[in-house]
Amino acid sequence: MFKHKILLTEEQIQRRVLEIADRLNLDYADRTLDIVCVLKGGIVFLSDLIRLLHIPVRIHFLRISSYGNETQNAGTLNLHFSYVADLENRHVLLLEDILDTGITMDYLLKHLTEQKPASMKICVLLDKPYRRKVDIRAEYVGFEIPDHFVIGYGLDYQELGRNLRYLAILDPSE
Ligand code: XMP
Ligand code: MG
Repeated sequence: MFKHKILLTEEQIQRRVLEIADRLNLDYADRTLDIVCVLKGGIVFLSDLIRLLHIPVRIHFLRISSYGNETQNAGTLNLHFSYVADLENRHVLLLEDILDTGITMDYLLKHLTEQKPASMKICVLLDKPYRRKVDIRAEYVGFEIPDHFVIGYGLDYQELGRNLRYLAILDPSE
C-alpha cells in the first residue's frame, strides 16, 4: 500500500456523515430524494449516508474520468457511462467524493439540469476550496481540506486505497 498519513479518522467521518444525514432528513422531509452518485469515489460515502436517511431515496450512478492515473486534473472530461433515470420534476442531490477545481461538477450540473429537475443540490464529502477554477459551491460539505491528494473512504490513488476506513494524505514520495 502507498505511504500515507491519516487526515480524518473513521470516527470523525462517521460523526460528520450523521450530521449531513440529519440535515438532509430535515431539508427533504416529505419529499423523495434522487441521489446521483459519481463513480467510483462516491460509493462509500453514499452507502453510509443513505442508511442514515429516513426519507424515501432513489439512487443513480454516473461515471466520469478526468484524472486517469495522475493526481492533477487534465482539464478534459470523458463521460464514460451515464445511466440516470428521468430526473424531470425530481429533487436531485448530486453526490461526489471531492470538489476540487469544480470542473467535473460544473460539467455534470449542466448536463443534468437539461433534464429539468425540480431542484438540484450538491453534496460532497470533501472540499478543496483553494483549488477552485469554476465558481461552484456545494450545499452539503463533509470537510474542507487543504490542498493535498487524499485517499481512503472511496478515494483512490491508481485505483488503490478506496477500502480504507479513514481518509489519508498520500505521501508526496508516491
Ligand atoms: P474537479 O477538479 O473536477 O475534480 O473538481 C473532482 C474529481 O477529481 C478527483 N480528485 C481526487 N481524487 N484524491 C482522489 O482520490 C484527491 O485528493 C482528489 N482530488 C480530486 C476526484 O475523482 C473528484 O471526483
Ligand atoms: Mg479517482
